[in-house]
Amino acid sequence: MKKTSALLTPLILVSFAFTGFAADDEKKTGAVNEKCPMTGKAINPECTFDFEEVTYAFCSGKCRGEFKGKVTDSLYSQLGGKAAIDAAVDLFYTKVLADKRVNFFFEDTNMKRQHNKQKQFLSAALGSPVPYEGMDMRKGHANMDLKEEHFNAIAENLQATLEELKIKPELIAKVMAVVATTKDDVLNRPKSK
Ligand code: HEM
Repeated sequence: MKKTSALLTPLILVSFAFTGFAADDEKKTGAVNEKCPMTGKAINPECTFDFEEVTYAFCSGKCRGEFKGKVTDSLYSQLGGKAAIDAAVDLFYTKVLADKRVNFFFEDTNMKRQHNKQKQFLSAALGSPVPYEGMDMRKGHANMDLKEEHFNAIAENLQATLEELKIKPELIAKVMAVVATTKDDVLNRPKSK
């Protein structure tokens, strides 16, 4: 497992503060992390929690409980976890590419990569413990000259996707609120108060 670090973005409402993933440790514990994601302290190899086939280790049972609570209560889990987000992003880009208001932005984009980045970004933003490893939203959309109507069209496609997948309206509203927090960065404008 390669070393990585959590991307600091204001969008990440649930922060697990991963400080290190380590091959050596993984050999000993099967866990992806060498430091407790809650405190940054050394892990107790006996103290682990498996989520979506990944083992996370903690310094104490208290931290394990807190982490487990956060992950299982997250919007990400309420939506159905990895399978649900992956399916939603795939359908979302089908809609985006059929939408003349915005599809021209993606003419030169490697869409396989884009699906993967978006899956990772949205998952992390909605509370998955797997960190997003991509460009931050401001840098990622710089020089595209994006306008409010483009952002709104993309958001509309996401909302239509979630409705088509029969996600509960109250969950859709929460997802859209999270996505709205990216608006100033995506549009490369000063942060609104
Ligand atoms: C609504 C909120 C949005 C989110 C959460 C979002 C998310 C992302 C992410 C995660 C990436 C990948 C960054 C990387 O390469 O590491 C990306 C790239 C991109 N986004 Fe967005 N995006 C949003 C809005 C928009 C809008 C409004 C447009 C245009 C209408 C847009 C067009 C693009 C394009 C064209 C790329 C790919 C650039 C390339 O080819 O590398 N995005 N976006």
